[in-house]
Amino acid sequence: AWTMANFRDVARTKIRAQVSSGRVICGLSGGVDSSVAAALIHEAIGDQLICIFVDHGLLRAGEADDVIRIFRDRFNITLIHRDASDLFFAALEGISDPEQKRKIIGGLFIDVFEQEATKLGGADFLAQGTLYPDVIESVSVSGGPSAVIKSHHNVGGLPARMRMQLVEPLRELFKDEVRALGRELGLPETMVGRHPFPGPGLAIRIPGAVDREKVKILQQADAIYLEEIRAAGLYDAIWQAFVALLPVRSVGVMGDGRTYDYACALRAVTSTDGMTADIYPFDMAFLSRVAGRIVGEVRGINRVTYDITSKPPGTIEWE
Ligand code: XMP
Repeated sequence: AWTMANFRDVARTKIRAQVSSGRVICGLSGGVDSSVAAALIHEAIGDQLICIFVDHGLLRAGEADDVIRIFRDRFNITLIHRDASDLFFAALEGISDPEQKRKIIGGLFIDVFEQEATKLGGADFLAQGTLYPDVIESVSVSGGPSAVIKSHHNVGGLPARMRMQLVEPLRELFKDEVRALGRELGLPETMVGRHPFPGPGLAIRIPGAVDREKVKILQQADAIYLEEIRAAGLYDAIWQAFVALLPVRSVGVMGDGRTYDYACALRAVTSTDGMTADIYPFDMAFLSRVAGRIVGEVRGINRVTYDITSKPPGTIEWE
């Protein structure tokens, strides 16, 4: 019978055959796909794999630390952590167009990755967590309608000048199979079962211009929302849940004083592939508990709304 244990054995052998004694570099993002690819390749070739984690400062609260803890400390994978957040925030300053934000982040991501690869003296192979649906999508719609609506910077990869052969051990797998493989490899459930997260990160969850201060506010609200979702046992029933920080300030009251702070929107959807989505029907008690905690605990937010738009006509993200 075909099991993930078989797949793991076969993949290991294939990776060794492809790579031989060459050096492989892999970009880690904290997402499921690159994490599973890295763990699998490390199992096959050990220290011939070097992971590069370009930290753009736009991850959820605690996720950069998780990546380091899991890969460096627990799996003993050679990991370069490059905190490039200053570069990203500087490049994003005053930029409010969604597509321009994506381009800036995607371009800088590649530049920084390339810098780190060059510092290492280069590599023979580049590992990517490409899945079967990515293969299909990039063949059939590259430049097609979805690419026009939103350019996904993590699909498409690095410039030709880097000239490395690709190692893509997940090319035949669907997402649920990648998750099963991740469990088989001993990756923690919090990473393997994680909701999809966009490459441009929190930058596209802050409509309008992005800065460090706004990211910090959003991270705090988002962490509370996710904590409550997990505590209510709802995480796995939801495809994606997140907070968007709105570029709107509104008046509120706090104690004896008047506040004038940001509004945020809670988003939670169910979906099977992200192409269409329905809103998750939280009960009011849950929503008001989250709203109370966010307004009470996060300085800078004094109003919480719930986004009840399905896809289509909405999109999952706000940008
Ligand atoms: P939308 O907002 O288009 O999102 O309904 C569909 C799925 O794609 C994710 N998404 C992105 N992923 N880079 C990514 O890697 C992006 O620029 C990007 N934009 C949207 C979104 O989180 C959802 O899962």
